[in-house]
Amino acid sequence: MRDAGQFNARLMDEVRAIVRPGIKTVEIDRFVYEFTQDHGHTPACLGYPGDRMPFPKSCCISINDVICHGIPGETELHPGDIANIDLTTVVHGWYGDQSETFLIGENSDISETARAVTQCAFDALYLGIGATKPGCQVAVIGEAIVEHTNRKYGFGVVDKYVGHGIGSKFHQRPNIPHVPSRQSYQDRLYPGMCFTIEPMINGGSARSVCDRRDGWTVRTYDGQPSAQFEHTILMTEDGPEILTLTKHGPQPGHQF
Ligand code: MF3
Ligand code: CO
Ligand code: CO
Repeated sequence: MRDAGQFNARLMDEVRAIVRPGIKTVEIDRFVYEFTQDHGHTPACLGYPGDRMPFPKSCCISINDVICHGIPGETELHPGDIANIDLTTVVHGWYGDQSETFLIGENSDISETARAVTQCAFDALYLGIGATKPGCQVAVIGEAIVEHTNRKYGFGVVDKYVGHGIGSKFHQRPNIPHVPSRQSYQDRLYPGMCFTIEPMINGGSARSVCDRRDGWTVRTYDGQPSAQFEHTILMTEDGPEILTLTKHGPQPGHQF
């Protein structure tokens, strides 16, 4: 899992270097596919089963009001967009999963709401990680995220889509909700378990709508922007260890 996390993080740093205004999301996707293949690994998203159709691309790119599961295509990134890129790689049978939201163009191009949801989601991820201890309830993650988001911003924390256990499968138990659920007070994080935390924060309502045509693209109900960050984490005897740390990405405390 450490190898999988490290490779996935390296891929994120490689993607970071090509993200710029004018690039088409399908071009980013092609890069993800080729870099992964060239290193002998597999993009987990490609062909991942869904209700309507398998996911057709190698990563998810979710722009502005898209909450998650955006399908790369002919859309270009524009100055002022916020774009989440979610990468998942299978390395020798083990999964690494992480995402970042990128601000496209100059900071002055970004709306205050888009910047604030990005900051809120980034801080929420690290507060969620920091709330965990060996043997803790899964619910401590959602408690920390909701408290922060409500107190500081009044934004919506998406509860329909959740983090997850991860290992030799992409999605496994337990669910890691970002709003405490009844089950998350029962589930605990013991040393040796790997899981993701991946809060999605909406500028307005937490409500979402899944695109009926493609069966994947999830948008905010009210058109407000949404941001997300994700890491894969190992619980150790000494506390949480982030497996997907990047070299060049924003570090805890970063101000967008
Ligand atoms: N990477 C997403 C997650 O964090 C899942 C994407 S599934 C896909 O769990 F099929 F849309 F790629
Ligand atoms: Co992901
Ligand atoms: Co995930």
